[in-house]
Amino acid sequence: MPENILVCVAWPYANGSIHLGHVAGAYLPADIFARYHRIKGNNVIMVSGSDAHGTPVTITAENEGVSPEEIANKYQREFLNDWDGLGINWDLFTSTHTDNHFEVTQDIFLRLYEKGFIYNDTMSQPFCEAHDRFLADRYVEGICPHCNFNGARGDQCDGCGNTLDPKDLLDIKHKDCDSTPIFRDTEHFFLKLSAFEKALIDWASEKSHWKPNVKNFTLGFLEGGLIDRAITRDITWGIPIPLEGYEDKRIYVWFEAVIGYLSASIEWASQTDNPDQWQEYWKKDSKPYYFMGKDNIPFHTVIWPAMLMGYGNLNLPYDVPANEYVNMEEKKISTSRNWVVNLKDYLERYEPDPLRFSLASIMPETSDSNFSWSEYVRRNNDELVATFGNLVHRVLSMTNRYFDGVVPESKNQDDLDRSLLKKGSETLSMVSTELENCRFRRALEHSMSLAQEANRYLDEKAPWTAAKNDPESAGNTLYHCLNVINCLKITLAPILPFSVEKLHTMLGFEGTATDQGWNWSPDEVSPGHKLGEAKALFIKLEDSVIDEEVSRLGIS
Ligand code: MF3
Ligand code: ZN
Repeated sequence: MPENILVCVAWPYANGSIHLGHVAGAYLPADIFARYHRIKGNNVIMVSGSDAHGTPVTITAENEGVSPEEIANKYQREFLNDWDGLGINWDLFTSTHTDNHFEVTQDIFLRLYEKGFIYNDTMSQPFCEAHDRFLADRYVEGICPHCNFNGARGDQCDGCGNTLDPKDLLDIKHKDCDSTPIFRDTEHFFLKLSAFEKALIDWASEKSHWKPNVKNFTLGFLEGGLIDRAITRDITWGIPIPLEGYEDKRIYVWFEAVIGYLSASIEWASQTDNPDQWQEYWKKDSKPYYFMGKDNIPFHTVIWPAMLMGYGNLNLPYDVPANEYVNMEEKKISTSRNWVVNLKDYLERYEPDPLRFSLASIMPETSDSNFSWSEYVRRNNDELVATFGNLVHRVLSMTNRYFDGVVPESKNQDDLDRSLLKKGSETLSMVSTELENCRFRRALEHSMSLAQEANRYLDEKAPWTAAKNDPESAGNTLYHCLNVINCLKITLAPILPFSVEKLHTMLGFEGTATDQGWNWSPDEVSPGHKLGEAKALFIKLEDSVIDEEVSRLGIS
């Protein structure tokens, strides 16, 4: 029975470019995971979209002198190009600025309001007298009470990552005029998080399959006590409150963005011939996974689950495999200091698979990791070109040279042959277990170790020597190598989708590499089968790439 797998990925703010940290933290692991489950024959939808509202987008729009909508559209286009270039294979990548998302959000808001899980109250908010307006979230800046970082914003501190409330900030200023705001009462709606505390603790405590850091953070957050949170703001860009008398306020961006997972699933289904099929993922037996960086954890393990519990009859997250951070050349990624590599710039200069490969090998699954250009070049040259690519190249070119590109027969199979095939089937099943558990680095290591093993086998058997005096033995060796390469084609398909398709054609097969499912028959590349044309799978990079790329960092 195929399973229903819902792959939800954090919605990037539509106010800046996707960079390699985002890719390694959320988009690549989600894509590898979704590809694996599709190959296995499960029902998968992978959804996300641009997070188009809130002060991140309005502030960028003001800085650039255009409307928030123009900014949101510009980044939506950029993101779609990014996904296309890197092979991030969405079932739907939409935006929160759609009629459908407005409707779903307002429905959830009203249902929670009717059930008493949303209520209104007055609260005190910063107000700029010079500008005669309330200052939501990022319009105020000050000193962080947790880490003393100067430049912490009303919603969050970039110094320590803590979520903040404007009244926490020391030396609070309106960021546009540097004046000190006064605090003034304003009416807002609150999500009654306190009502879900017990249920959330019970729910999260049982999650023995969660990563320890995600589970511990969540339980720590819950045990600190949940306070009701304001879920509306005094701004005009965003989703209107579906009640009369609040025309100059909007629903808080975080409250509605998480609803995007549901609204995007509904939008996806509406474009298929079965508009109700989103329910398979949200109401029936299914496993919803949420991929994101660690700063987003509480929104996905506390706030969104509380909203879902309050609404009722919708599936809660099954797993939240949040990642830690990737540093760039040993320093924290910073977009303001341009210490960052944007995906669109990478894709202008290099191929997608080497990036997928090198980010999968440093995925920050349990601790922060580091991206360096020298490692990138080394992995490309030593692992992709010299290990995997060279194996394929040697085996295919010898089959061409000695056997006219026709798969030779396997005669007199010996222990070495058998143990290579055994390692192939073990690798297939180990990679599958690792991918199911979101351990992408280890999945990749198993595949690379099979490729190394095949290279050693080839060196030992030396079919180039045997070809002269014992062509049967040479044929037997190449036959086994071709079939192990066909195994690597499956185990690497979720990580190297572009190269694996090329390889599939080079092996002389029709259709796509993933048609055969997560299966490998060790004799699929059978005697007499004609191989396709051999081409290079990867290209060696010059060492000069390292200096060239490192010197681009930090330039404003
Ligand atoms: N836009 C947020 C960020 O970039 C993430 C939103 S995730 C969602 O940090 F679930 F709320 F959509
Ligand atoms: Zn701080």
